[in-house]
Amino acid sequence: MFTCHDLIFFVEGLSIMDASKETGLRNVSSVCSIPEMDDFDLTKLLDKPRLTIKRERSFDERSLSEMSLTRGLDNLELGYSPGGCSGLDTPASSTRNSFEPHPMVAEAWESLRRSLVHFRGQPVGTIAAYDHASEEVLNYDQVFVRDFVPSALAFLMNGEPDIVKNFLLKTLQLQGWEKRVDKFRLGEGAMPASFKVLHDPERKTDTIVADFGESAIGRVAPVDSGFWWIILLRAYTKSTGDLTLAETPDCQKGMRLILTLCLSEGFDTFPTLLCADGCSMIDRRMGIYGYPIEIQALFFMALRCSLAMMKLDAEGKEFVERIMKRLHALSFHMRSYFWIDFQQLNDIYRYKTEEYSHTAVNKFNVIPDSIPDWVFDFMPTRGGYFIGNVSPARMDFRWFALGNCVAILSSLATPEQASAIMDLFEARWEELVGEMPIKICYPAIESHEWRIVTGCDPKNTRWSYHNGGTWPVLLWLLTAACIKTGRPQIARRAIELAESRLLKDGWPEYYDGKLGRYIGKQARKYQTWSIAGYLVAKMMLEDPSHLGMISLEDDRQLRPIIKRSASF
Ligand code: GLC
Repeated sequence: MFTCHDLIFFVEGLSIMDASKETGLRNVSSVCSIPEMDDFDLTKLLDKPRLTIKRERSFDERSLSEMSLTRGLDNLELGYSPGGCSGLDTPASSTRNSFEPHPMVAEAWESLRRSLVHFRGQPVGTIAAYDHASEEVLNYDQVFVRDFVPSALAFLMNGEPDIVKNFLLKTLQLQGWEKRVDKFRLGEGAMPASFKVLHDPERKTDTIVADFGESAIGRVAPVDSGFWWIILLRAYTKSTGDLTLAETPDCQKGMRLILTLCLSEGFDTFPTLLCADGCSMIDRRMGIYGYPIEIQALFFMALRCSLAMMKLDAEGKEFVERIMKRLHALSFHMRSYFWIDFQQLNDIYRYKTEEYSHTAVNKFNVIPDSIPDWVFDFMPTRGGYFIGNVSPARMDFRWFALGNCVAILSSLATPEQASAIMDLFEARWEELVGEMPIKICYPAIESHEWRIVTGCDPKNTRWSYHNGGTWPVLLWLLTAACIKTGRPQIARRAIELAESRLLKDGWPEYYDGKLGRYIGKQARKYQTWSIAGYLVAKMMLEDPSHLGMISLEDDRQLRPIIKRSASF
């Protein structure tokens, strides 16, 4: 049996109070209906010395030691982080005093607003791309759940939460639909990959069609959609201080249904989630089937967000217990088996095979000969990352951007691992960023391997699209990770690169080439999440307290018992 206090996580280090944010301090009543939005023991926090940073001081002036002391400013989790509404058309971010707004910011807002989708007069999302030049619309005129996340964050940061609320409620309704692929019914909790609003000008009606995977290329259900929905619900709650939405029976049920899909017992021997290829941002065959890092990191983050929002009624309590157990097992598994650094690579290189029983060191029977050559050169002496996938006799050593950034934001990565991931960014800047931030994964798969792994996918040729292509949308995740780890200068460098080309190139969906130098072969222009990702990155760097919406503090209870090496 849990009480609110059992669920409250502890924070280490100093808490930074932003002078202008005091208004953001929520009233913490003695009756705690939703475990305190993340999770602090308030009494402990109040005992600690506080460092006050004045709002007027720009982020640039803030010393790095301050940043690293607090591992970013995410300790601001105490209160909500309002966007600071400045009227509909004026982005708050361009009116702030500490930064001269970049001319691209206003253009980006305009393009973002042009992509808004309305349902019966209310904005409910943003389309994937507003590219009239492209002959083929495919499904880029739809609202994708994952694509809407950066748009939602931009609106929240700008003090416009209504569209986010509408989106959350609309997709929740869609979750209630019966979903079928041919004669097979999908789990109740599945959330759509995307939806489209059909306007009938004659009848003056709006209807919605949604895709849960039954129309998607490859017919794969989007495992990430439900996780993003939960993460966004927390971001909304955190940003507005409005607990009532997450507390509604419908939202509570929606969360439980999503979690039911992932917490059910079966034949699993690992706490990670078994997935089909193409079930996330990489929505085509790319050899990520099994236990892809992107899904595991989002799963972890969604579990932690749910824990903060789940009501402790009879049904909620049972879920809370299951979530806690899974979080423990998942963090141990990921931190132990997915983590790699120089030392760990060397250990795997020297692995014995065919070990049996509990004493086995090489538990998954990975054959050292299967380690690809590139990883020996890629691995810096300082630095590390979570590899792409771990399953019996298989380690996918590819580096994936989204999974590693979300691991930092959710604190799946320990503070030491988070620093090591950032060290890797610095050490392998040319490979991971090059001329445009940032690669979706590294390295690309080529030749025979490409044929086997992708099924000869012409869109995923080497260094293009999902196969080592460069996705500007990932800039917001990189920036958030940089702020959290106290390395804003890395984000600044990446944003500068983006600013040198993104607008000029028409906000492409992706870039191609080893350095990300060429606009992608089939890239859409005016891709909404490239636009929103840039805005979110800018706003977070300008006001790092926004990070709290999308970041969770390290929880000591989930720390691994064994430490492995220097960068671990
Ligand atoms: C591509 C991407 C996917 C995205 C969609 C819409 O299919 O792989 O992640 O959601 O385009 O932008």
